[in-house]
Amino acid sequence: MRQDAPSVPVWDPLVRLFHWSLVVAVGIDLFLEDGTDLHDAAGYVVLGLVAFRLIWGFVGPRHARFADFVRGPGAVLSYLGDLARRRARPYLGHNPAGGAMIVLLLADLALASGSGALLGTDAFRRVEWVETVHAISGNLLFILVPLHLLGVLVGSIADSENLLAAMLTGRKRAPRE
Ligand code: HEM
Ligand code: HEM
Repeated sequence: MRQDAPSVPVWDPLVRLFHWSLVVAVGIDLFLEDGTDLHDAAGYVVLGLVAFRLIWGFVGPRHARFADFVRGPGAVLSYLGDLARRRARPYLGHNPAGGAMIVLLLADLALASGSGALLGTDAFRRVEWVETVHAISGNLLFILVPLHLLGVLVGSIADSENLLAAMLTGRKRAPRE
């Protein structure tokens, strides 16, 4: 299906650089959990990347914009229903379920890196609620990231499109109109 379709650019270079830098920095933070210098440095990088992505979601090219892929719960559920019945239509950008996952990931990363940055200040260093927010949002990633990877796998099968390759090259096969 659509194997011979020409490929078209979808993910701009900054979205791809953002994504793979995020994977490295979040990976370091989850591997070194204890507030070491490297954990803190990687955490500030995550904070900067999330801030960049929030701006890019409004001013970036078409498929980077939130308006292109953030949908309400109704649209997300109906997409998941179509997916279960194996008749989900392919999207050139993120599908509605992928869009919801991205909102969850970005919100949780903002909480984790924001609370982490607070823990880096003298005023909030040992404040219990900040530590609690940090521990919960940080550990939630051990659920959200595997769910994200499952979504990428299911989406790749449903659309017969290698989404991992698309996030590397920026290109996808053109949809049949
Ligand atoms: C720490 C781990 C990860 C985090 C926090 C993360 C986060 C994200 C975010 C925020 C996006 C949205 C991209 C954008 O439009 O800006 C995304 C998309 C994507 N990620 Fe990840 N990611 C992680 C790991 C991975 C890994 C290991 C893979 C490789 C299999 C992967 C593959 C993808 C793909 C293929 C997309 C595009 C999905 C689509 O086509 O709709 N991610 N990820
Ligand atoms: C998105 C970025 C970050 C992630 C995913 C993350 C993740 C985590 C995780 C999972 C823990 C272990 C929590 C527990 O189970 O008790 C932790 C602890 C900690 N993190 Fe982060 N972190 C991030 C950013 C930061 C930043 C920017 C700082 C400070 C500048 C920081 C400072 C700390 C400290 C001080 C601890 C030990 C807290 C305690 O004793 O409860 N983190 N982080």
